[in-house]
Amino acid sequence: MDIHQSSTVLDALIHVREEIDGTLGLRCACRASICGSCGMRVNGQAKLVCKTRVEELSPDGETLLVEPMGNQPVIKDLVVDISSFFAKMEQVTPFLQPDKLPESGEFIASNDSMEKLLTEMNCIMCGLCVSDCTVLEVDNTFIGPAALAKASRFVYDPRDDKTEERLKFLNYEQGGIWDCTRCMQCVEVCPKGVAPMDRIMALREKVMDAGHTNTNGARHATAFVDSVRHSGWLDELKLPIKSFGIFNLKAMISLIPLAIRSQRAGKVPPLIHKNIPEVENVRRIFDKVENKK
Ligand code: FES
Repeated sequence: MDIHQSSTVLDALIHVREEIDGTLGLRCACRASICGSCGMRVNGQAKLVCKTRVEELSPDGETLLVEPMGNQPVIKDLVVDISSFFAKMEQVTPFLQPDKLPESGEFIASNDSMEKLLTEMNCIMCGLCVSDCTVLEVDNTFIGPAALAKASRFVYDPRDDKTEERLKFLNYEQGGIWDCTRCMQCVEVCPKGVAPMDRIMALREKVMDAGHTNTNGARHATAFVDSVRHSGWLDELKLPIKSFGIFNLKAMISLIPLAIRSQRAGKVPPLIHKNIPEVENVRRIFDKVENKK
């Protein structure tokens, strides 16, 4: 179809609905990347279509593939059912829970503390991160990038008094912070720079600093760091043992098929894990980062 050079994908879709097929189902409202309602997949990646110019993706008139967002059931055409998105939001109690109200007036929060939350507060709940989350694709119990970024917004808010309860929930709940695989898709597609994965990593640090280290995820992270600090590279043989615990027989047995597949593929790590040459340089990096904190 012929469209203006500055047209967005949403303009094109509205043109289709008004001129070609009045039955086309799509969602939109503000047309200014504020309301978050026009999330769709364009050429396989989640985007706000009101913010995506056709010319950017189709400079020479290439065909664009527009699909509904992923990881949520389709209601009609380009409209998905967002109820699971909001159910996951509710799981993280997305509101302030102060123990007591101020005696008079309102809560005073410092500028500095609020500025630190600006990134999280930029979220417009468009769900693009949920659409392209590779964990949700295989495990619907994962709380997901949007809700976890929202959780971090309240964990770091000085007016909230339920930090400990929130951290415990995010740490121990199935589908919590340790299920993120750091694929970066949420960071890539977020139209507001919220970078949900970075928020999840900050929550991991926070739960470990608070002493909640008795999970597979926390042990995995610690084992990873210890191995690289000690030898300069990852001891893949010890990693699962340290993550699950050697006495966790069920977990150890469940790893046997993986070990057999790795062996067949010639990917079994060396039994004797040697330090890399000049490992002191790696240790110096660790010291620098830790002293910076
Ligand atoms: Fe509101 Fe696109 S229509 S964000």
